[in-house]
Amino acid sequence: MLSLVLLYLTIFAYSEAQQGQIKETKMTVYFQDFSGGPKATVIEITGQPDGLLSFTKFGAMFCTDDPVTEGFDENSAQIARAQGLYVTSALDGSNTHVLISIVFTNDEYKGSTLEIQGSSAQFERVREVAVVSGTGKFRFARGYATFETIYYDHTLHYAVIQCNVTVLHY
Ligand SMILES: *[C@@H]1O[C@H](CO)[C@@H](O)[C@H](O)[C@H]1NC(C)=O
Repeated sequence: MLSLVLLYLTIFAYSEAQQGQIKETKMTVYFQDFSGGPKATVIEITGQPDGLLSFTKFGAMFCTDDPVTEGFDENSAQIARAQGLYVTSALDGSNTHVLISIVFTNDEYKGSTLEIQGSSAQFERVREVAVVSGTGKFRFARGYATFETIYYDHTLHYAVIQCNVTVLHY
């Protein structure tokens, strides 16, 4: 019994020393999203031959690789890619289930990721999805991200999505 307690205390002290203090990091980034055209960054996996995306069709699955920039402008510094999947998960098409990694490429966070997962009310002005974990500088991260489409060009199928992330991590 005593040895179990000692073992526990040792592990606890070790993990405290390893991990240090919890930090809060907040960031505002921009997803450059092309849902069609020659530069498409979103495709429908279960797509139609006409290439139109059926976001409201229950079970429709999408794959995405959006550039993530520091500013609103498409040509501002790219700091990450938003890579993953989403699936229209509500029968009435209102919710999509998001599984996306923000894969950082900038100097500060290169090689680190944040993992975003959960239900997104895709037609609301602001959507909130959980940040469930991370890697590298974001090990053990948890928090939330908001998404707001702040620009949409119908003919180019081009949207700019402002993403605010708040995470606690070591
Ligand atoms: C996201 O952050 C920006 C910049 O701080 C702010 O203007 C905007 O209102 C925030 N959006 C949401 C949905 O909180």
